[in-house]
Amino acid sequence: MTTIHVLNGPNLNLLGTREPATYGRATLADIETGLAALAGAHGVSLVFRQSNHEGDLVTWIQAAGQAGEPVILNAGAYTHTSIAIRDAIAGTGAEVIEVHLSNVHAREPFRHHSAISAVAKGVIAGFGPLSYELALRALLAPAADGPLTA
Ligand code: DQA
Repeated sequence: MTTIHVLNGPNLNLLGTREPATYGRATLADIETGLAALAGAHGVSLVFRQSNHEGDLVTWIQAAGQAGEPVILNAGAYTHTSIAIRDAIAGTGAEVIEVHLSNVHAREPFRHHSAISAVAKGVIAGFGPLSYELALRALLAPAADGPLTA
């Protein structure tokens, strides 16, 4: 069975109570439950993790990259600073979709830069928990380079 890793960085354990006007009321457990249902319906297994420590994210990305397993990554604030996370992606060839709950480009200027986007397969931001679902659907979808079909 295909495994998809969903990796969450610092402060995302606080979802539900953290700045709800920006991040909403859903908890990380709520997001995991929704994704697990979608993944299960497609016969895919999910590994869902959160850490406040940069090195944990580096280690998990390396392992996923070496196993050839894709990653949905919300690196939180490390998105904007972490050369180590970028190098873990580049160094293992991990297939990563960068996600953000909020539209980082509509927020403070320090959130406009991502150290990760240049080595990510794609970036989804601004749709709350749906950002994660869209990323999962992108990984589940067959590669298409033709016109969309209804
Ligand atoms: C975030 C955006 C980051 O700028 C912030 O540091 C986070 C969450 C998001 O999901 O919108 O922790 O990645």
